[in-house]
Amino acid sequence: MPAAEKHIGIIYSISSSSAIAFMDDSVVSMERTLGGKVYRIGQIGTFVAIPVGTTNIIGMIARVQLSRLTQSMGSTQTEMADIIKAKKEMEIQLVGSVVNGKFEKGIASFPPIGSDVFMTDDGDITSLFSTFAQYGFAIGDISGYLGERQYIDPNKFFGKHIALLGSTGSGKSTAVASILQKVQMFSNTHVIVLDIHNEYRAAFRDFGNIINITDLELPHWFMNFEEMREAFVDESESSAQSQEMILKDLVLNSKKIKNPALQEFITIDAPVYFDLNEVRAKFQFYDTERITGYGGGQSREGPFFGQFTRFLVRLDSRMTDKRYEFMFKPKKFKDSVAIKEVISKIFGLENKKQITVLDLSGVPFDIVNIIVSLLARMIFDFNFWNKSKSDFPVLLVFEEAHNYLPQVPSAHNRAARRTVERIAKEGRKYGVGCMIVSQRPSELSETILSQCNNFVTLRLTNPPIKTMFVSSSPIPSAGCSTFYRRFGPEKRSSSAIQRRCRFASCLIIPRRPPTARILNSTTSGSLPIKKPSSPTLLTDGGDKIDRKSN
Ligand SMILES: Nc1ncnc2c1ncn2[C@@H]1O[C@H](COP(=O)(O)OP(=O)(O)OP(=O)(O)O)[C@@H](O)[C@H]1O
Ligand SMILES: [Mg+2]
Repeated sequence: MPAAEKHIGIIYSISSSSAIAFMDDSVVSMERTLGGKVYRIGQIGTFVAIPVGTTNIIGMIARVQLSRLTQSMGSTQTEMADIIKAKKEMEIQLVGSVVNGKFEKGIASFPPIGSDVFMTDDGDITSLFSTFAQYGFAIGDISGYLGERQYIDPNKFFGKHIALLGSTGSGKSTAVASILQKVQMFSNTHVIVLDIHNEYRAAFRDFGNIINITDLELPHWFMNFEEMREAFVDESESSAQSQEMILKDLVLNSKKIKNPALQEFITIDAPVYFDLNEVRAKFQFYDTERITGYGGGQSREGPFFGQFTRFLVRLDSRMTDKRYEFMFKPKKFKDSVAIKEVISKIFGLENKKQITVLDLSGVPFDIVNIIVSLLARMIFDFNFWNKSKSDFPVLLVFEEAHNYLPQVPSAHNRAARRTVERIAKEGRKYGVGCMIVSQRPSELSETILSQCNNFVTLRLTNPPIKTMFVSSSPIPSAGCSTFYRRFGPEKRSSSAIQRRCRFASCLIIPRRPPTARILNSTTSGSLPIKKPSSPTLLTDGGDKIDRKSN
């Protein structure tokens, strides 16, 4: 990499994350021709190399300015003209090192004052960013180096929870589809997308398992008690506690009666059949119960008389509304063994598809939270008890997550938040990862967001959020605007997600651990994605998808 013709500066100041270097006087035009090709040099966002012994430290130029030593020299126009010709300096954010020809995050040994700074050419950039090329998982072109693909290690990317954030319309769903279209090419992956607005059907029509949740049916008895409480009990009513208590009692009783063989194992949360009509009839009875006085004397009201009237209205409105039929009036699933069929459909085991898109667009808004909780819980519990969980990694994608995973929950949206928080905290141990997709990160559960280790951030307009990402990024703030980019906005389309998916400008940030300012590339935890059996098959996965979709 080092060669006299590539020399662009000399370091005069160094800190743990950045270095400041005087720019050579020869870097006047900010361009240099090498081997017949014109390179941008000394410009923000370009990479530089700083040799230290046998290692090359890699940095990215984050700021260029007149040398601080000359800034105060004068203010008249002639003086300024002289100053412009004077020394310039560049601030270089230290990104990683090339050791034995391999790029690693982290700085093994820092460059001393006086170290030389060199520009990078095409060859350098290719070797720099091809460390993970063996996996064939490219997420885009590197900004400023057109045609240079950025490969990442999918095991490390999917081995931790992911947050994909960006303001509305910035291309989040398109980015999710683009990433997942590549994931499906790896064997042994199971991805389940909770598609709130039915946006992903077109992107996965050919190789995904598309399920309309209202056609599939999710019977009411799949709910645990917390979900049932959210569905039926209004905590603002004075009789809420009685409603809860009686509901628990009646449901448990009905579950035991309908499943006599399982009686001693059944708990209120067990996903076994119970008859909602019977539960309703009992509530009706308590609501209108009158107790006859001794010796046939005047009757008096029962202990719950009139307390469940509103509860019954709510229950009836759900049980008679066609939109809720998939849950409260299941046609197919009327006994406890149904759960097996539903699970196998959700995981695409029947048609051996690796990606399942669960279309939740037909689910009434007021129970989306319950459905998300129920689905996420079923999927997590499946792997919790799965003896071969390490061979069955699952990625759950939560679209529009701010709608049901709020930072401040109300009585009606606690279940999903609690379930996903559990997955965020414990999921990796059981091979369950999550991808949180949201346009309002500030409204998302902090617990969930803090468990995410990989951030894919698209355009962010909210200043505090921007600051949060810049401060947690191990790479320079200046690069945050367009670090990685997949080209092609020339075919902007009005429909939400086309099969021809592209990345908008984006940045993938592995979260900086609290103890270290620059990450070391260590792999911990599960490896949810196996290497492709034939790595060459995927060397240019993204383009393959585009071609296929044309
Ligand atoms: N890289 C891209 N190149 C061209 N067009 C794109 C690109 N990414 C997204 N689009 C287009 O931008 C629009 C918005 O994209 P998308 O729906 O993915 O954004 P979003 O962030 O998910 O939006 P929302 O906040 O509404 O969920 C769509 O019309 C899509 O086709
Ligand atoms: Mg979207």
